[in-house]
Amino acid sequence: MSHILVFDSGIGGTSVLSHLKACLQGVSFSYVMDNAFLPYGLQPQELIKSRVKGLIRWQQQYLDNVDLIVIACNTASTYALEEARKHTQIPIIGVVPAVKPAASSSKTKHIALLATPATSNNAYTHKLIMDFTSGCKVETLHSTELVRIAEHFYWHNELDKEALCAEIARLNIPATVDRLVLGCTHFPLIAHDIKNCLQKHVELVDSGKAIANRAVSLLGSQIVVGEKVPSASEVCFYATAPVMDSKEVISIINLNKD
Ligand code: DGL
Repeated sequence: MSHILVFDSGIGGTSVLSHLKACLQGVSFSYVMDNAFLPYGLQPQELIKSRVKGLIRWQQQYLDNVDLIVIACNTASTYALEEARKHTQIPIIGVVPAVKPAASSSKTKHIALLATPATSNNAYTHKLIMDFTSGCKVETLHSTELVRIAEHFYWHNELDKEALCAEIARLNIPATVDRLVLGCTHFPLIAHDIKNCLQKHVELVDSGKAIANRAVSLLGSQIVVGEKVPSASEVCFYATAPVMDSKEVISIINLNKD
């Protein structure tokens, strides 16, 4: 049975995990959240690089059956993907903002990227925009509040719609923008409610499905592609700090340097 390790700062990566589960049968998952350092969007690059290195070390020590690592976090991918690849032979898929499909499908040629402060302001993202959105105007927006709202929604099943709409209003998205890139894996978890706060013509774009397709092509003949969703017992959850809720059975782990 193939085994995929999915990593994020918190529960945002479960938005990617859902796509992986929907595309792959006979695959088991380990989901690691580095919630001791949540939100990653406010952390410096060096810290995120060292946490990702810590993840690889932890995997090498405790999970010897991993076929694929998915860094299901735009912040960690844009900051530390190359670094991570230096420390393991296991293929790694990163998640980066879907600016390319957004730009090519935009009718108004005006799009916005909504990500964490770290993702919006880093060199990798700027290059992605330069390389793949030519002919398109791109607004780069950021929010940490939406990460907080998505975490609260996941753990407590309560969505603060007022705070969410106030945060979207604060972003002041120009009326000519017709594609909003969800450049943080937490945001698809609350996509329906984000959409409700936007003008009708704005479509949301995220990378989840593309990541799952990439996983299918990388794992190749090792897996069976299908519609069946594996039961929850096929996902083991790990966290670096205790979570105040028993929604999942979670093992606490340490990603610090040895
Ligand atoms: N889910 C993460 C991302 O895609 C990071 C959220 C955070 O910890 O700030 O960037």
